[in-house]
Amino acid sequence: MAGNRTLTIIKPDAFNAGKAGLILAHLEKQGFALIAARVMKLTPAQAGEFYAVHKGRPFYPELVEFMTSDYCMPMVLEKGDAVLALRDAIGATDPAEAAPGTVRKLYAESKGRNAIHASDSDENAAREARFFFAETDLIR
Ligand code: CMP
Repeated sequence: MAGNRTLTIIKPDAFNAGKAGLILAHLEKQGFALIAARVMKLTPAQAGEFYAVHKGRPFYPELVEFMTSDYCMPMVLEKGDAVLALRDAIGATDPAEAAPGTVRKLYAESKGRNAIHASDSDENAAREARFFFAETDLIR
């Protein structure tokens, strides 16, 4: 059965542009509940570990550089079938291909600077949530 929690990150482009509140409100309106949140600047080691699966891809150095360039906002969100629901809500990786009304269509600039991250499986959601949060950081 699909899990009801997922991990998202408001990326430095959107956080810097003052869009964190708008994006969270957008997601809350769609039924996502906020379970944990923090604001932080990732170190290169943290970003490298978080995106280790993409190591070796041509965009990896640019991705790590971007994700460490300024503050970001990791959050755990809750909703039924959370991983799929959030991926639907944020839209395609490239905002040019994202559906109308999705977070990336509304707030992202490009494939690299694409406003928001969302876990792509229940397994990764659990791993990524543990990456940023202790059990005691979650409200329930
Ligand atoms: P995200 O959902 O955070 O997961 C991996 C990220 O790699 C992705 O969003 C994009 O920001 C980034 N990415 C994927 N493909 C490209 C690409 N072709 N060029 C630049 N960045 C990319």
